[in-house]
Amino acid sequence: MPVSTTPSPLHAESLQDDPRIIEAKRLIAAAVSDHAAKIDSVSPPQAERGEHYQSIIADYTRDRGAPPIWPYFSSGMGNGPYVELADGSVKLDFIGGIGVHGCGHSHPDMVAASVDAALEDTVMQGNLQQNVPSVQMLSRLTTLACESGAALAHAILSTSGAMANENALKLAFHHAQPASRVIAFDNAFAGRSIAMAAVTDRPAYRDGIPTAINVDYLPFLDPHDPAGSTKRATDTLKKLLARNPKQYAAFWAEPIAGEGGYYPGSHDFFAALCRPLRAAGIPIIFDEIQSFSRTSRPFAFQHYGLDEFADIVTIGKITQVCATLYRKEFHPTAPIISQTFTGSTAAIRAGLKTLDLLESSGCFGDEGGNARRHQYFAAAMEKLAQKHEGLIGGPYGEGMMMVFTPGDGSLEQAKMLMGLLFDVGLLGFLCGAAPTRIRFLPPPTITTNAHIDTAIELLDQGLTQMKAKLS
Ligand SMILES: Cc1ncc(COP(=O)(O)O)c(C=O)c1O
Repeated sequence: MPVSTTPSPLHAESLQDDPRIIEAKRLIAAAVSDHAAKIDSVSPPQAERGEHYQSIIADYTRDRGAPPIWPYFSSGMGNGPYVELADGSVKLDFIGGIGVHGCGHSHPDMVAASVDAALEDTVMQGNLQQNVPSVQMLSRLTTLACESGAALAHAILSTSGAMANENALKLAFHHAQPASRVIAFDNAFAGRSIAMAAVTDRPAYRDGIPTAINVDYLPFLDPHDPAGSTKRATDTLKKLLARNPKQYAAFWAEPIAGEGGYYPGSHDFFAALCRPLRAAGIPIIFDEIQSFSRTSRPFAFQHYGLDEFADIVTIGKITQVCATLYRKEFHPTAPIISQTFTGSTAAIRAGLKTLDLLESSGCFGDEGGNARRHQYFAAAMEKLAQKHEGLIGGPYGEGMMMVFTPGDGSLEQAKMLMGLLFDVGLLGFLCGAAPTRIRFLPPPTITTNAHIDTAIELLDQGLTQMKAKLS
């Protein structure tokens, strides 16, 4: 008997091909699309829902022990950059949970990914129970990361950015043992675990937390003094390397300062630091948890031409599932990394779809969507700054990491404007300290200039109200 080369279909494949499933998916997609289409502009809360919404906020405050950061409780639906809240209001969501809604709200591909995930028997994948999309995600990420010469051959998935960074530091410490210190930048933010609280340059975020790692800080690139700040950073690095020889296990850096205020890096600034770090054999970690997908290339280290220096890279947020990518030589020789959960099946499938959409929607390239939308935003902000003198300051960030300094740069004024914007229907969030800034992370795959125009109109309204309050 000849041996057949075609395997019989898996039951999971037969399920996908079942006409009932195909029809059910078609109906779900059509229903979501019909209802989402009605969410197409900003609108105020419904008065009749006010009491119920207040009770949601009160329940949260009681159970969480503190009020929500802002009164955002979503209905679970939206359309593009618009999101419907449970009070019936519709907001232009230009923050997206800090960069998580990369395809906007209720995107058909995201809904389809979640439906497909729901048909799989595994809710959360992990080291002992991986479905095939996990493998696809690892392969997509390493391929993207190596696109222009980086040697990031391997990857590990995880469920949070903090854990991706923990895994990154573990790999670096393991590789560089017994070195134990880390170099980071002033105003760094690495996450909320005990180790990441040590790396993060916000004393309040580690109040009462024992110091897990000794970290030394370098000044970041100053947009007003690139040459001077590069010199200050390289001089500080030189001093640290001389003071603590063989003690550094990692240089940990966000290529674009995120929580620190959305200040871009540059090739020259990073190369000036990475060369001596390389010469000293100190592993270089780029944290791209916030910057991934937002510049002219998938990774900001590629955007700045730093591929040769990338030893370990972390991503999260927009990819839904987080990951630590690393060069071959960092593969651990002891079982230092393992997790019950590496990511939910829905997150992995939605992450894969997001990567597809990022690549197919023209975000990348020197003249790609991210760069063009940034220019459009910056020009509109310059115009608005003329109208509202003294209330808008640059610089305006990089790519789809957009930002401005409101008013006098104080926390009070930034918070005031953020609240006013929330009420008029535009979602942006604080970052930085001295000055405190307001950032926007619009979805790279679907944001149009028309959406930016709407954001500018709402900002205009918010600033007019701010001016009235301040006078
Ligand atoms: C640069 C950077 N690293 C790490 C983290 C931590 O990620 P997560 O909140 O998913 O733990 C964040 C989150 O804002 C971040 O912006």
